[in-house]
Amino acid sequence: MQRIIILDFGSQTTQLIARRIRELGTYCEILPYDRYPADDGDVIGVILSGSPCSVHDADAPRADFGRFLGRVPCLGICYGAQLLAATYGGKVERTAAHEYGRARITLTTSDPLLRGIAAKSQVWMSHGDTITILPADCHAIASTEDIPFAAYASLSRPIWGVQFHPEVVHTTEGTTLLRNFVTDICGSRCEWNPEAFIPTTIDQLRHQLGNDRVVMGLSGGVDSSVCAALLNRAIGDRLTCIFIDHGMMRENEFAEVMEAYKQAGISVKGVDASERFLGDLAGVTDPEQKRHIIGRDFVEVFSDEAKRMPGVRWLAQGTIYPDCIESGLVRPSKEGGKGTVIKSHHNVGGLPEKMGLKLCEPLRWLFKDEVRAVGRKLGLPENLIGRHPFPGPGLAVRIVGDITRDRVRMVQEADDIFIRSLRDWTCADGQTLYNKVWQAGVVLLAGIRTVGVMGDERTYDHPVVLRAVTSTDAMTADWAPLPHEFLATVSSEIINKVKGVNRVCYDISSKPPSTIEWE
Ligand code: XMP
Repeated sequence: MQRIIILDFGSQTTQLIARRIRELGTYCEILPYDRYPADDGDVIGVILSGSPCSVHDADAPRADFGRFLGRVPCLGICYGAQLLAATYGGKVERTAAHEYGRARITLTTSDPLLRGIAAKSQVWMSHGDTITILPADCHAIASTEDIPFAAYASLSRPIWGVQFHPEVVHTTEGTTLLRNFVTDICGSRCEWNPEAFIPTTIDQLRHQLGNDRVVMGLSGGVDSSVCAALLNRAIGDRLTCIFIDHGMMRENEFAEVMEAYKQAGISVKGVDASERFLGDLAGVTDPEQKRHIIGRDFVEVFSDEAKRMPGVRWLAQGTIYPDCIESGLVRPSKEGGKGTVIKSHHNVGGLPEKMGLKLCEPLRWLFKDEVRAVGRKLGLPENLIGRHPFPGPGLAVRIVGDITRDRVRMVQEADDIFIRSLRDWTCADGQTLYNKVWQAGVVLLAGIRTVGVMGDERTYDHPVVLRAVTSTDAMTADWAPLPHEFLATVSSEIINKVKGVNRVCYDISSKPPSTIEWE
């Protein structure tokens, strides 16, 4: 299949470039900046991403341009454009004309990259360096008030550079620019779409798995559900799923999700291991230790169950593309190490080797919105597809302090009120608040008690915190501005109904510097 290669120099928006290109119907892959593929027969174009680095840094990331430049069209974005210019005889300088945020470009000449774009339009800039001299064979095709070479093109080779970010929504004509590049310049036939993915993947899975049996763990989340539905289509009852109840799911979640799987025709074995998990977690307050225990218990319970299934050769996982992308740049941590673990997300890494199974990951090339589109096409119910993300360790990381059954009950009840209210609240545009926020949940501050008064009685109970965020990928998030009237209703319902809770707060922190979960 035709594909565009995006060489990643470490920009925050590299994944966005890939999503835009896929939305335009063209398959693309993100690769580290120095790993242009050896077998590039299907590559129709290359995009160079932005970067937090400067081309003047001693260890500035560089690509081997000789491998593709002049052979397939190339578009440099921000750092990518500056690196191209600096490499081919232009000059990049750190000038006073830093541009961050919105700017207006004016087209200075007609060019296929800018076809159909208004003579003046808004773009999003984010760079400290700027190109002050273009390479000899390049000319400017757009400028801003502050910089003469906002966009340039080579006169002799298929090379373009833009110092703004066409992939972000604030660049109002960014999609047109990317479409011009991908379709007109690179000649994409626009064959990629999630629907087309289904039959080809089913064929591949049948070929890959033959008559083997496959086991997979379900979490109730979108990715594992879609993965199971796809495998179910491909190999029917040779797939067996295991759904483990670790005792820290949301209210009625285990039963509801089991029912949804049954309705979708997915064969799944439910395992109630809550006693074991809660027993092992007793007295543990450290978030990383909680994750470690849950991860370990999960692997053990899962392996025990899987061992009882004869003839299983494969482990399937709902890994998706953002989980696999290897960034081009490993930034040093403050402590001098190679990058920092902010939270060690629980996954079943290491499981296949331990169990002697081969790994099958049919969704590893899809973004989340593509996974959802595939799930809808496969007929999965909206209550599985449209669910908010939920962390693997569940409510364990929403109880700040040690975990007891009674504390789990408090978060479950409060969470149920909050989530149900979000689902029931319809906004002026017809959407529910639940669909407007990316993720929502309730956090119990188990180590804190505050004074309250109920009727004539003094209470000394726990506060809970409501958390609701908007986001596109959980890498960054904003707190959701929920209506005050809504918050007031939820607050009084929680305080009136949830025994042990006498105060409700709303979390107004964005990520960064905070994170979505409290632990
Ligand atoms: P943070 O708190 O890091 O969360 O901003 C980002 C997203 O990841 C989810 N999350 C987890 N998911 N295991 C998971 O499977 C974990 O340990 C974990 N911790 C956070 C979180 O719910 C949010 O969607």
